[in-house]
This record gives sequence, structure tokens and C-alpha cells, in this order.
Amino acid sequence: MSPVIRNLSNAKSRLKDLYNPIAAEMGEVEAVLRGQMRSDYAFVDELVRYGCHLGGKRLRPALLLLMGKAVGELDSAHITLGAVVEMIHAATLIHDDVLDEATTRRHLATVNSRWDNEASILLGDFLFSRALCLASTLDNTYACRVIGESTSVLCEGELRQKGTRGDFGLSEDDYLSIIEAKTAELCGCSCKLGAHFAGASEATEDLMEAYGRNLGTAFQIADDVLDVVGDEAATGKSLGTDLDKQKPTLPVIRVLELVEESERERLQQALEGESELRHEILAEYLDRYDAISYAREKAAAYADRAREQLVDLPPDAPVETLRLLTDFVITRCI
Ligand code: FPP
Ligand code: MG
Repeated sequence: MSPVIRNLSNAKSRLKDLYNPIAAEMGEVEAVLRGQMRSDYAFVDELVRYGCHLGGKRLRPALLLLMGKAVGELDSAHITLGAVVEMIHAATLIHDDVLDEATTRRHLATVNSRWDNEASILLGDFLFSRALCLASTLDNTYACRVIGESTSVLCEGELRQKGTRGDFGLSEDDYLSIIEAKTAELCGCSCKLGAHFAGASEATEDLMEAYGRNLGTAFQIADDVLDVVGDEAATGKSLGTDLDKQKPTLPVIRVLELVEESERERLQQALEGESELRHEILAEYLDRYDAISYAREKAAAYADRAREQLVDLPPDAPVETLRLLTDFVITRCI
């Protein structure tokens, strides 16, 4: 077995072990997803089922279920909402692959590359609206409101990112604020919903949401590091798209912060230039300024902050998993 495949299967079995305390409920979420991600129309059915395969780590439903179990008891609302957040996540990635012109995700051709952008946009819209419809089957409007607020922040984050393409003067704070919106928001929302529907107090809900936000931020920084130095065979998705699309992420922002004025122009030209040369020149600067380690340390600091939110919870299996997940998101290769 090649080292890449070995790492990949280690990461997958590590995740499966982590989900042990919620294995039965994750199975129920999968059943709801299968029931939702279908259509009576053959072409739509093929697309939707394909979209379901694109779902990968099931991190958001896992967070929602683990949070519920950590602070109280799970009920049918958790199962429904687990499917809802996963469908929303799938919709966002299908749209994201259009924006990034990505060709591979989860070791499969993206919807935009197997079909086209039109199919991707419509499929994402279909999944998103079906997810909201499913959320509206709950007894009250709370989940729909929280999900509506979070997804609008998420879209705003993506729009802000679009607005900063090619802006290599983007500050670290602005970068962090954008990734908090586009990625951490849905993780925070999943944790908040999990805690709320298990009867948590508002104060506990806020702490759990903060856990999710910090975890999500750590996740995205690690994801942005993988985009620069990861292995496509392990991640199973197109890498290098951030710079192809001129999106400044933390390793590059760090280099640009530290580079000597006399070299800034050479670097800037490389970042804006042709891919092959860019990788070569950027690698030299990343190395010189230890920018990958810097970004990894930042991700680790957010993971620590996530763990701090859990200190008052009983040290049982779901809480232990939430703790271990903070490590998983920053050390994963997938
Ligand atoms: C991944 O970014 C992208 C996101 C976390 C959010 C994408 C959201 C949208 C495109 C808005 C669509 C919204 C709805 C409600 C359908 P990335 O490119 O850094 O991650 P990757 O490496 O996994 O592609
Ligand atoms: Mg992408």
C-alpha cells in the first residue's frame, strides 16, 4: 500500500472511531439523507445522488449530534437537523467548485466537471431549498431562523472573498474574518443547534457555538495550508486553486508581511503569474519565512480555543470526541 493511501485510510478509520459515541444516530442521519437526496426525474435523481456521494467527512452533522449528547439527550430534531446541515454543506461545496473551477472532490469528478456549471448551480439551489424545507418540518421556527442567519453570513463571506481576489495586501485579520464567515459559521451553527435542541441554557449554547466557530476557523486554516502543500491523492480534491483564483490565504499573507521591500515585486509578479513558476518561487519564500509552520500554529491556537469552551462539560465520551476533533481538524490529510 502506498504511503498516501495508508495515510488516507488511517485518517478515515480515525474519524470512524471518533464518531463511535454517535454511530447509531449518524446511521439515522444517513437514512434521512438518502430519503431526501433523490428525485422522481431520472436526470435530477442522478445528479442529486452524485451530490450525496460528494459529502465526505460528515463533520457538521457529527458536531450537531455530539453537542446534543454532550449537553443533554438527542431526539428526532437532531437527526433531521443533522441531515439539513449536511445538505447545506454539500450545496455550498458544489457552488464553491464552480467558483474555484475545481475538477476533483472526494476523489470524484466535481459536478461542474462531470456535467457543467449550470447543473452545479441548480443542484446546489435544489439541495439548499430542500434542506430549508426539511428544517421547516420542525415544530418551531428557531432552526430555520438560525440556519437562515448563518447561511446568509456564509454567502456574504464568499462574496467578501470574491471582492478580495488579487488583493495581496489583505491583512491577516481580514482573512480571518472572511474564513470565520465562509466556514466557521456553519460549524458554529451546527453546534448551537445541537445544544439548543438538547435543552441547553442560552449561555451553554453560546459556548458551544464558540467551540464550533473556533474549530471551523482551525479547519479552514488547515485547509488553506493543504491547498498549498497538500497531496491531491490524499485530499481527493483539486489543490492550488486558491492561488489559481488569486485568493490570498494565511501562508501567503504571512510571507507578504515579512518579505523585504526589494523582493516584494518579484514575489507579487510570481503570485500573479503562471502556475509552474509561481509554485517554485512561492516555495522558496514559504520556506524562508517558515510561513507554513506559522499558519499551522495559528490553526493550533484556534483548536486550543475551541477546547477551552468545553472545560465545564462532563468528561464523557461525546465531550472527549469533541476534544479529539480539535486535533483531527488540524492534523488531517483529508
Ligand atoms: C470552501 O472553500 C467553501 C466554503 C466553506 C463555502 C462556499 C459557499 C458558497 C460558494 C456559497 C454557496 C451558498 C449556498 C447557501 C448554496 P475552499 O475553496 O477554501 O475549500 P475547498 O478546498 O474544500 O474547495
Ligand atoms: Mg474550493
